[in-house]
Amino acid sequence: MELGKKVTVPDVARLKAAGERITMVTAYDCAFARLLDKAGVDLLLVGDSLGMVVQGLETTLPVTLDEMVYHTRMVARGAQRALVVGDLPFGAYQTSPAHALDSAVRLVKEGGARAVKLEGGLPMARTIEAIAAIDVPVMGHVGLTPQSVHRMGGHRVQGRRHGRAAGERERVIDDARAVQEAGAFAVVLECIPLDLAAEITAELKIPTIGIGAGAHCDGQVLVLHDLLGLSTDWTPRFAKRYAELGQEVVRAAETYVREVKAGTFPTEAQAFAPPKTSTGAA
Ligand code: KIV
Repeated sequence: MELGKKVTVPDVARLKAAGERITMVTAYDCAFARLLDKAGVDLLLVGDSLGMVVQGLETTLPVTLDEMVYHTRMVARGAQRALVVGDLPFGAYQTSPAHALDSAVRLVKEGGARAVKLEGGLPMARTIEAIAAIDVPVMGHVGLTPQSVHRMGGHRVQGRRHGRAAGERERVIDDARAVQEAGAFAVVLECIPLDLAAEITAELKIPTIGIGAGAHCDGQVLVLHDLLGLSTDWTPRFAKRYAELGQEVVRAAETYVREVKAGTFPTEAQAFAPPKTSTGAA
């Protein structure tokens, strides 16, 4: 896709049709949105993963709609080209399609999102339909859906042939079909076996965007902190660290602490000279 031109929802379908892979990365603030946008990332997802990577929570469940609106607004401010997708958090859309509409409208109107994402397949079909019907583009999300962590008993791979629950594979396929049928413009496939992702990608007309779903999806999404190596401890097996910025941050901050303690920062170069005193008579 041409760099510089704004990525639109119809462009995402065109990328699949042209066989060009779609790139999506999560972003949570304006500074990183600007950098990712400059790098040519097609879609910026303001993911509710911010609960875990920004807020330090154990799950995404406590993240509120107000918080999502706040972060979406910052990301939208930094995105010149990328399509900004705002994630609907737990509790902001499951109780009724009417509630989901209000939440989606807030992400677009107050947050500046150009599309929204929600988790769930078949049970969310009516909700996706309702949001799409008011012309807010919806991205689905099936497979491992972190907001269902308690039902799944943890963040586990979904849809294995001999999974813990019978019929898991069929359930993921039915969910992906339902999301497309309901009018979503794309669907995230999270943590499912790569052959299942390939089968769904071949069947669906809408693009699939994988995370932990192998190379046969139409696109890929990574959480920013994983991509940049910003966490100093654990990285999920499916993620790839393209940099080790966490170590770089610690190194830079350690040097700063050392220099301040030693009195070697600031030097004259970082200081403002006092105004010259005038000796002449007034
Ligand atoms: O919240 C998020 O970051 C997500 C991605 C992992 C797809 O939903």
